[in-house]
Amino acid sequence: MKRTVKLLLTGLGLALLAACAPKPPAVAQAPARQVAPLLSTPEAQDVHSYARPAEARVTNVDLDLAADFIRKQLSGTARLTVQAAAPDASLILDTRDLTIESVSDAAGRPLTWSLGKADAILGAPLTVQLGSARELLVRYHTSPEAAALQWLPPSQTAGKQHPYLFSQGEAILTRTWVPTQDSPGIRQTWSARITAPAELRVVMSAEQLTPEGEVLADGRAWRFVMDKPVAPYLIALAIGDLAFKPLGERTGVYTEPSRLEAAATELADVEAMVKAAESLYGPYRWGRYDLLVLPPSFPFGGMENPRLTFATPTVIAGDKSLVSLVAHELAHSWSGNLVTNATWSDFWLNEGFTTYFENRIMERVYGPADALMLADLGWDGLQAQIKSLGAKGLADTRLHIDLAGRDPDDGMTDIAYEKGAAFLRTIETAVGRQRWDEYLRSYFDRHAFAPQTTAGFLADLHEHLLAADPALEERLLTRAWAYDTGLPANAVAPRSSRLAAVDKLAAAFARQGAKAAPGAGQWTTAERVRFINRLPRKLPAARLAELDKLLGLAQQGNSEVRFAWLRLAVANHYAPAVPQLEAFLTSMGRRKFVLPLFADLMAQGTWGQPIAQRIYALARPGYHSVTVGSVDKIVPVTAAR
Ligand code: BES
Ligand code: ZN
Repeated sequence: MKRTVKLLLTGLGLALLAACAPKPPAVAQAPARQVAPLLSTPEAQDVHSYARPAEARVTNVDLDLAADFIRKQLSGTARLTVQAAAPDASLILDTRDLTIESVSDAAGRPLTWSLGKADAILGAPLTVQLGSARELLVRYHTSPEAAALQWLPPSQTAGKQHPYLFSQGEAILTRTWVPTQDSPGIRQTWSARITAPAELRVVMSAEQLTPEGEVLADGRAWRFVMDKPVAPYLIALAIGDLAFKPLGERTGVYTEPSRLEAAATELADVEAMVKAAESLYGPYRWGRYDLLVLPPSFPFGGMENPRLTFATPTVIAGDKSLVSLVAHELAHSWSGNLVTNATWSDFWLNEGFTTYFENRIMERVYGPADALMLADLGWDGLQAQIKSLGAKGLADTRLHIDLAGRDPDDGMTDIAYEKGAAFLRTIETAVGRQRWDEYLRSYFDRHAFAPQTTAGFLADLHEHLLAADPALEERLLTRAWAYDTGLPANAVAPRSSRLAAVDKLAAAFARQGAKAAPGAGQWTTAERVRFINRLPRKLPAARLAELDKLLGLAQQGNSEVRFAWLRLAVANHYAPAVPQLEAFLTSMGRRKFVLPLFADLMAQGTWGQPIAQRIYALARPGYHSVTVGSVDKIVPVTAAR
């Protein structure tokens, strides 16, 4: 199968309601800081942006947008502050599906601009003749099809009363709602004023300046500021019937009122996670750490939007069994948001470091045995990913990947996550945890608020950790790790003894049935997932029925267990699971679950393909564009029957 969309094939994942709730906190912060007035030339060319930052570069974005839920449209202005190398420079912005109404300077004088030809992946460049202007005002509106935005009707929310809007910027979707230089190497401070219907609350990945909004004649206005320069893919917005509950001093959760209690209970350890992360790699630099638990169509497990992680509701399992997903998004506050992949070819610097760091947080908060099980499952995911990429996808088993002419999504596989994490684990093992941790902490300090390339990391590693020991550096094979395909020979595999025991039971169960797996009722989520994934892909129906009973799979609420089970059921054309499959695929739109299940069905010929088409017709209208874009490539679209 060609699909290599991030995370798809693996069980890695284990990764993860109060109208009178306390008011969201307003945190006083130092006044907005100026971005260093440097026209920095990125050392790596970003093939996914039209921007030419060496000529003219956006340093600040100030949005003033109104959300119109009837027209499914954001409209208003983006005020851009720019630096330019020459007096008559042209500024090139990224846009996709935006309608540009006018471009003027700060005094309102029109500037000359033109919109180039649109590319299906990159969108269209907006070129502005700056003249002497260093501040410009772009008046525009979004399309109802803006790929970053999902406008949900009330029926797709928990409360069923109010509409909802959320954005998803990574990798190159911010340009579908903000006309700016949409490259992760071009960091920008930003601020926003968003107006929305009075009954809805607006949240963003920034400091909330108006905890209750400002009442207007026809709605409420909400103001935000992000005074630290961030990559544009991290600008995020959500609007809905949201309530808030604090989790700790600087942590809290937003979600729909009916879901607030369950979310807060599930996420009770978040403050402890932040402390654990800080004790490993230095202070949390973003002020507050809040989470937004979204409606089920959110296409990812989580998205590390600064100060406000966006999370799938499938993380609320009822027993904290999927909270490693929160550890992951939190870890991005260092690896990703502080030190950021300079281009999408360096994506592993975001996700590999974060997967490694996530596991270290889990180890601190929940202990080594649990953390080791998760790491071991991640290793399984890596093997599965390498296998599924096969000979055709071999080039994409590199950490630094070639994405020229491709949608960055297509290169975002488990390789970045798990091979990246395995690389760092291998270095840790070679140099010892103490030295490695000291290095990593200093690395985050040295590169805070800056883009990083793969070559830049290797150079830093050499200079600050390995230079004194050339023999060790040689043995570590760092260049092979970064630039070669497959897995270097020195890769250190995490081995959990508890999962090794489960592996044995899985083999016995396949032969003898349930009597061979005593104690399965007490297993953790990790153990249950591993057990299912270790079973032979072909089992008799009676054995599947036994498995269903043994693990209570038909009533299963845990999304990771459900996912593992449904994949096995599809591989066996197990008819009793088809209604469960339909229920699962129409209840959430998380791509990591949705895409592999549809791919599995499509691979099952005349048994699976009609099922895939029937269920997709039902489910597709509820999915975000990110999920639709991926599934459309593999399932023929038909009207719902
Ligand atoms: N940053 C990613 C999500 C992402 C990746 C969005 C690529 C767009 C393009 C996020 O941190 C992530 O990795 N989420 C995972 C969960 C995690 C626990 C592995 C997911 O969504 O499954
Ligand atoms: Zn991530």
